[in-house]
Amino acid sequence: MKKIVLVQLAAALLCCKNVAAQPYAKDPKVEKRIAGMVKKMTLKEKVGMLHGNSKFFVSGVERLGIPQWSMSDGPHGVRAEMNLHEWTYAGWTTDSATYFPTGTALAATWNPELAYRRGEMLGEEARARQKDVLLGPGINIIRSPLGGRNFEYMSEDPYLNARIAVGYIRGLQSRDVAASVKHYAVNNQETWRESVSVEVSDRALYEIYLPAFKAAVTEGGALTVMSAYNKLRGDWCAESKFLVRDILKGEWGFDGVYLTDWGAAHSTVKAALAGMDVEMGTYSSKYDEWYFADPLVEAVKKGEIPESLVDEKVANVLRVMIRTNVLDPKKRFGKASINTPEHQQGAYADAVEAAVLLKNDNGVLPLNVAELKSIAVIGDNAVRKHSLGGLSSEIKALYEVTPLEGLRKKLGGQLQITFAQGYEKTSFFVEGANNGQGAGQLSEAGKKAQDSLLYAAVEAARKSDAAVIFCGLNHDYDTESADKRDMQLPYGQVALIQEVCRVNPKTVVVVIAGSPVDLVAPSIGAPAILWGWYNGMEAGNAFADLITGEKTPSGKMPFTLAYSLEQYPAHAFNNFPGRNGTVRYDDDIFVGYRWFDTKKQPTLYPFGHGLSYTTFLYSGLTTDKKAYGAGDTVTVTFRLQNAGSRAGAEVAQLYVSDVEASVARPAKELKGFKKVHLQPAESRQVAIKVPVADLAFYDERKRAFAVEAGEFTLHIASSATDVRESVTITVN
Ligand code: BGC
Repeated sequence: MKKIVLVQLAAALLCCKNVAAQPYAKDPKVEKRIAGMVKKMTLKEKVGMLHGNSKFFVSGVERLGIPQWSMSDGPHGVRAEMNLHEWTYAGWTTDSATYFPTGTALAATWNPELAYRRGEMLGEEARARQKDVLLGPGINIIRSPLGGRNFEYMSEDPYLNARIAVGYIRGLQSRDVAASVKHYAVNNQETWRESVSVEVSDRALYEIYLPAFKAAVTEGGALTVMSAYNKLRGDWCAESKFLVRDILKGEWGFDGVYLTDWGAAHSTVKAALAGMDVEMGTYSSKYDEWYFADPLVEAVKKGEIPESLVDEKVANVLRVMIRTNVLDPKKRFGKASINTPEHQQGAYADAVEAAVLLKNDNGVLPLNVAELKSIAVIGDNAVRKHSLGGLSSEIKALYEVTPLEGLRKKLGGQLQITFAQGYEKTSFFVEGANNGQGAGQLSEAGKKAQDSLLYAAVEAARKSDAAVIFCGLNHDYDTESADKRDMQLPYGQVALIQEVCRVNPKTVVVVIAGSPVDLVAPSIGAPAILWGWYNGMEAGNAFADLITGEKTPSGKMPFTLAYSLEQYPAHAFNNFPGRNGTVRYDDDIFVGYRWFDTKKQPTLYPFGHGLSYTTFLYSGLTTDKKAYGAGDTVTVTFRLQNAGSRAGAEVAQLYVSDVEASVARPAKELKGFKKVHLQPAESRQVAIKVPVADLAFYDERKRAFAVEAGEFTLHIASSATDVRESVTITVN
């Protein structure tokens, strides 16, 4: 029996520990330089540095050697150049870029080093395009399968989210490009995104929705943070004192720039006091009239806010500029390169590691091409390019290899490839229409397969030795500004998959999507399913190498694939997307697998699931001690063996259960993981460290994290439901 004793972790101690880990320590010399510059500025000049002067630029002060500050979207590539004063492209011929796999794909690699390398490459490309700030990564929690921006975000789990985000941010900023972590906070739906108010408990905020932001700031050293459009408890996120002054700048010690999302400012005095620094994207080209322009000057003159508050904001901007060498003309835009073979190779590496093998009956994958004479390649997604979709994250890719092109390039000389479209994309995208509720997406009636396309595909599959169907969604569904209407595969794809599988037992289904879709029927029909994401410009080459076994899948799902939409907690409580302008997060801390696990609900493919072409054995789980104090770190070790005849990588996952607690806790929570590459028959001793502080829950009464003394069980697992070994420790 567990003794309930609260081992409260001093908030100050936690906070200092993290701040010390921050890559940018406050430098007295820099602070002096900043103060000197601010002193020389007029109020008008200062305020000029606190709002946009066009879509993506903020004014500097030329006479003091402060250049204008330049920003660009977005999370998975540097966006093409926009016109200064309009939401249209400038039509440059020199602004194509490397298109990397999107957020959920990066998270599916479970590889923070890869995320770091991604950040570096993005930074080099941003530099080449003369950008000081890159508007990413997007790190909101995937709460509902319907969330339009799920594909840009990462995971339903805060720990995985944080690890990938920290890698990305550190890599990016190592190239002197400031990250802009977005969207702070609780942007978990696009429906009514500019007005909806989120009602969520402190505990869910601290345990689920904020940890990745905290890690981004305190460990990643993120230099800028972007507000969300929505409200939290009635306050716009751009002007929420609770979120900004109290938590971001107070508890986490953030001394960079808090900027609004484009058009997310709603006030002058309230926002200024709450901690907003820079206003961007307000819907008027009369820039002087923006909230943080002339009205801010007026507010100071009227004594509504002290000028020192303006100075503080200007200092934040200058601090970020200095940390990224913006004020040093010799160093600014250094380390620049774009569209290099290395970056393309990086996009390929990400794509390979992102793909998740969901199912592989009878060893259908990898296809043994030596035995095949023909393959049918089926589906609109076999030929569709996705780089120019999703809205603000769209990329003008230098090129994009489609799946069909990748397979033709690899196998074209060797065997016959027949392409059949299978279904037609009959949806379309309309920005912001219908309050973000899936305008342009298909209603039930519009989802029927087009018979002639279906028959042609079935015929191609019947006549071929194997079939590969590239199905899924596109950016009419996975997009900023609209949620999905449901989680069904549109355009009659379920019937297509069923019919093709019926005539060809060697059928592989590749799902192209960035958010959960219903795979129940495809999972009954298809022997092999690979989840392929929006996998960047090298997607086609990566799929060809994975399908033929030149590469082995090693991705793991960053979210749960359940049997139905209603099973997901946000929907089980019937509170998505909310009502009367408010969305209540009654699911509280039970998001994703925390819910399915605790409620003992079976799922189709659990969080953390992903097969390989080889198999892995776990053994000998131990901890370095049996009992720990609140300030200790638990070192968990075990042996991992590649028991097959192919090289491969396994993501070993460490989950923790609080055996008995005074509050409701999830059945288990992810607290560590390691991706381990092993040659055939190779085995390795693996260690994962978990600070006891990470076993805490957020105690709302004490407004602090607390670990309760007693027993905790640590599980080493291959997915959230595939636990291989467990061991129990005691916290004293
Ligand atoms: C999006 C941001 C994006 C900004 C600038 C907004 O609509 O929400 O993510 O960075 O536009 O394009």
